[in-house]
Amino acid sequence: MTSTSRMVVRCDDCRTDWPEAQPRTRCACGGLLAIVHQPRFHGDALRAHFDDDRALGPLSAASGVWRFAEIVQPLSAPRAVSHPEGNTPLLHRDRLDRWSGVEGLRLKHEGHNPTGSFKDRGMTVAVTQAVRVGARAVACASTGNTSAALAAYAAQAGIPAIVFVPAGQVAMGKMAQALAYGAITLLVEGDFDACLRLVQEAGDELGIYLVNSINPFRLEGQKTIVLELLRQLDWQAPDWIVVPAGNLGNTAAFGKALAEARQWRLIDRLPKIAAVQAGGAAPFAAAFSRGFDRLVPVQAETLATAIRIGDPASYARGVRSIQETAGCVLAVTDAEILEAKAEIDAAGVGCEPASAASLAGVRALQLSGSIRPGERVAAVLTGHLLKDPGIVDRMHREDGMIPTPNRPEPVAASLDAIRRALHRRGVG
Ligand code: F0G
Repeated sequence: MTSTSRMVVRCDDCRTDWPEAQPRTRCACGGLLAIVHQPRFHGDALRAHFDDDRALGPLSAASGVWRFAEIVQPLSAPRAVSHPEGNTPLLHRDRLDRWSGVEGLRLKHEGHNPTGSFKDRGMTVAVTQAVRVGARAVACASTGNTSAALAAYAAQAGIPAIVFVPAGQVAMGKMAQALAYGAITLLVEGDFDACLRLVQEAGDELGIYLVNSINPFRLEGQKTIVLELLRQLDWQAPDWIVVPAGNLGNTAAFGKALAEARQWRLIDRLPKIAAVQAGGAAPFAAAFSRGFDRLVPVQAETLATAIRIGDPASYARGVRSIQETAGCVLAVTDAEILEAKAEIDAAGVGCEPASAASLAGVRALQLSGSIRPGERVAAVLTGHLLKDPGIVDRMHREDGMIPTPNRPEPVAASLDAIRRALHRRGVG
């Protein structure tokens, strides 16, 4: 088999095949493009390949994305634009078992990536592809994390990055990253959905390479959240994988990863995917409850700004992921998200608000009986606590946001005052 026969780029709608190394990120018919792989190995041989650091080479051995290059982008691995990324921990905390009611709950913490979110996994592949096709500039619309990741990887590649973000709606840590890494940062007077429409129009007109999650190479990178999770579980698939959902890139990528993993005999059964949305930004959950009749876009509103999205671009693929895995979609309130976040933070783990939707969802699914006793559950934490320091400040200073805020203590500069302050908090 020649190296070029190992993957093709195919339209979801009209099934046209496109050459792999070209700058188009949508089909001429408007359909989304997907990568179709033909790996050289299956089953035990493919698992063994992923474990063989010497054969993989230094870059793939160091990156939790490029380790899986054989089924991500086999042609680029040796020359990848990589920090490296991935290799995120799979955590367990008794406190969160108790709070969620799920024993042995595992948390895949994607906040441990180089720019603090799962977006690095997709971006290493998409920016590598941008270099491959000779892009002059790269662009995305973002609620913050995609822009932070793009800015970092484009800086590494030496390509100008342009990010379209909703003015006043991006958490401070993410904005700081886009600026610091040198992206041209456009504060658009509109929401994320408007940014996504604009970036596609601008991309077409100005010939800029787009790296939103409709870019098929982004999804290939994001598949590795699931592949790495399965490898950490010795390829024993859990019963549930629970993920926060906004634009549905991850939901789409997870479904693709699982379908391929079963097709190539990496696993012998499919976990259910549970996608969790914020109540004020839940068009996918609403469609699920109507039997996925159709997507009705909403004007999104939630404190979890990462998932403040009303018109998800990967809706059709998200539907397929839920249907193929017999999974479900649910919505949780902002209050439930903050309560879950406070628990994750207090367990010493920490995450940004959108990430906590997954734990809030685990608890809701346990309480409703969907997750049954003894089932094995993995929830994805998508972003780091420091992405959104503003919400932490509000949670612990404002009354009524969470039950027991941890207020900072003003104290006079004397040992006596410190003694009294600590005594009030039960220390000394
Ligand atoms: N969690 C976090 C922390 C995110 O940043 C995002 C998406 C999601 C969950 C939802 O993932 O869109 O694949 O369903 N953030 C995008 C961005 C939209 O621009 O950073 P999804």
